[in-house]
Order: sequence, then C-alpha cells, then structure tokens
Amino acid sequence: MKALCWRGAGSVACETVPDPRLINPHDAIVKVTLSSVNGADLHLLEGSVPSMKPGDIIGREFIGEIVDRGRDVAKVAVGQRVVVSSVIGCGHCYHCGIGDYSLCDNTNPNEDVGDRHFGFATCGILGSSTAFGGYAGSHAQYVRVPFADLGCVPLSDVLSDQSSLFLSDAFPTGFMAADMCELQPGHVVAIWGAGGVGQMAVQSAFLLGADRVILIDRVPSRLKAASLRSNVEVLNYDEVNVHEALKELTSGRGPDACIDAVGRDGVLSQAVLACRKGGTVSVVGVYTGVLDRFPIGAAMNKGLRFRMGQVHGPRYVSRLMKVIEKGEIDPSFLLTHTLSLREGSEGYKMFKNKSDNCMRVAFDPWLEPTLH
Ligand SMILES: NC(=O)c1ccc[n+]([C@@H]2O[C@H](COP(=O)([O-])OP(=O)(O)OC[C@H]3O[C@@H](n4cnc5c(N)ncnc54)[C@H](O)[C@@H]3O)[C@@H](O)[C@H]2O)c1
Ligand SMILES: [Zn+2]
Repeated sequence: MKALCWRGAGSVACETVPDPRLINPHDAIVKVTLSSVNGADLHLLEGSVPSMKPGDIIGREFIGEIVDRGRDVAKVAVGQRVVVSSVIGCGHCYHCGIGDYSLCDNTNPNEDVGDRHFGFATCGILGSSTAFGGYAGSHAQYVRVPFADLGCVPLSDVLSDQSSLFLSDAFPTGFMAADMCELQPGHVVAIWGAGGVGQMAVQSAFLLGADRVILIDRVPSRLKAASLRSNVEVLNYDEVNVHEALKELTSGRGPDACIDAVGRDGVLSQAVLACRKGGTVSVVGVYTGVLDRFPIGAAMNKGLRFRMGQVHGPRYVSRLMKVIEKGEIDPSFLLTHTLSLREGSEGYKMFKNKSDNCMRVAFDPWLEPTLH
C-alpha cells in the first residue's frame, strides 16, 4: 500500500510499504477515506520527539471503512464506515473503566521509552513514534486499529466525511479542553491557539455555557474563521499586549478559565499570569519533558486549578456525533485542503506555514496528485 513515511527532521515521503495485518483478535483493519494533519504531527515531523524512526508512518486523525476484523471484535463489522480515535484505550483496565482512556494501562508496549523521554508514558497513540507505542499511523491506505470495539465508532449516514473526520481528534480535544473548565453561567474563557483544536474549544466553550470567549492567535485567517461562526472576541498577539488586553476585557479580573491549545511554555506562563484568582487553567497543547521558569509562585498564590491531558477520545465521540447531527457545531470548516499522499510534503509545509489560509489538510490516500 501507499503511506506517508517520516524520513528525518522536516522530511516525509510517500512510499510503498507492506499492508497491515490483523495481529491480535481485537484488531480491525481500516481502509482510510480521509486522514488529517494535526498540530501533534508537527512536533513529530520537526524531529522534536526523540523516538521517531525513519520509515515511521505518521497521521492520527482519520475516518475509513472496516475491511477486516479479528475474532474478538463484536461492535463493528466489515463494510461499516467509522471514525477512529487517535488515542488507543483497551476498554478493560481501571482507567478505561472510568473513561480516562488516554491513561490506559495496556496499550503502550513501549512504556519504558516513554518514561525515559518524557518522564511518563501515555497510552498508545496511532502514528506517534515508538514512545507512544510504535503504532503505524493513518496517512496510509490501510491502518491496523487495536481494540477496535472501543476505538472505532460507526458513523451516522447523515454525516458527511468532512463533518465526521474531526471526531477522531480535534473536536474531542477542543471539547475536552472546555469541559475541563467546568464552566458556569457568566464565565469568560480565554483560549490560546486558533488551530483546529482551539477552534473546536471556542465552539465547545459556548456550547457548555460560557458567556464570553476570547481567542488569541496571530494568523488573521484563523481568527476570522472563528469570528464567522460565533460571537468570539479575538486578540492578535502580534498587535496587542495579550496580558493587558485580557485584563481590560475582564474589568481587571482576568478570565475565569484559560485554555492552552498551543503547547508552548510561553503560552502556559501567559495563561497562568492572566487567569483570574481561583480560576482554571486547562491544557491540551502537548508538552513533553520538563519546563523551566514556570510561574509556579503565581499559580500557587492565585489558587489556580490545573486540568490537562491527552484527549480521552472514546469518552466523547458518540456525544459529539449527536452535536454535529443536531447542527450545533459543524467541524467541517477545519478542512481547507484535500491532497494526495504524494503531496504529503507540500501539505505539511502548507499546514506549518499556514499558507493559502490553511487550517487543516486531509490526505485522501486514493487520490492522484493535483498540485503538480
Ligand atoms: N491533548 C491532546 O490529546 C491533543 C490532541 C491534538 C492536538 N493536541 C495539541 O494541541 C495543540 C494544538 O493543535 P492544533 O492541531 O490546533 O495545532 P495547529 O498547529 O493547527 O494550531 C496551533 C495554533 O497556535 C498558534 N500559536 C502559536 N504560538 C502562539 C502563541 N504564543 N499564542 C497564541 N497562539 C499561538 C498558531 O498560530 C496556530 O494557529 C498542539 O500542541 C497539539 O499537539 C493535543
Ligand atoms: Zn485500558
């Protein structure tokens, strides 16, 4: 089959690789329909995740069709159109039992590598290097999905591929970011990062009852995309002092909740310093390793509450599918470009540089190149 393989820092190539096979009785093989780029892939692509190996297939956010299943798979059948969660839960351990799927005890066979590089290993995550379990990713024609009964959710016929795709990762992640804020009527939420995750956090925060949402980024097309779909207030951090602007917008008190949908230490510090006393800082932007010069004094003395984590995808997929069906949120606007796998390199460049108003590129692995 064709797949997009990592070749070293900043480099990907479309290659012919062996088709995946069923390995365990709970596996399914999914034929990929659309596979989106994701901010998390950028960290992998740049080579800042130490356990990437040349040849690793990247991609974690996708939909497709079940074409084969192991003997223990009961809830999804061959021929079904499904969305697949990027994080892999086993569905049976203590953590899966309480819905904390990204803390699953059983799906990362390389925990020692994760522990060594990041201080602590997550569950397995598709297409995310040896430290995250070494699972091949979704920028490919076929993917092996372990624990398919949990990870694959059949899609409602009324949903288009474009609307369903982001149920795999960006929508549950943005929703979880807002959910962790435990919003109350009257709350003001500030969100750093207007990528796919931040966009979904904006709409989810309104859905969950936020009174006002303030979105911070520097990319005008992304700030505009959010404004077109909600009453969000926007701040361009190239144009204003974010800290001062947030104070001014909240009568000097600071936002009740601050969401980090970027994953850079500077943003996290800003969120801590901006948040109102006793407020919540919700972190879904990804961090690895250690962080220096973190304003722990401000955080402690302000009595802040921290919530964070990799997305507990399967906890949210069915609920959010209903949200899309009801027309409350339609994530399809995140998809700005559809390309072939042979255009992988151009696609990632576009995504990284935000050129041509790119929010997210999805690869259709059955498409021939169009860019050349
Ligand atoms: N927790 C999870 O399970 C999970 C899942 C998916 C993605 N993520 C992470 O969430 C983050 C966002 O993902 P995405 O797909 O939306 O990425 P993205 O790259 O599309 O968007 C990130 C946005 O952050 C903006 N940004 C950069 N520096 C900023 C700053 N100082 N202030 C404000 N905005 C700034 C960029 O301009 C960009 O628009 C990434 O760190 C990604 O790894 C986490
Ligand atoms: Zn588990």
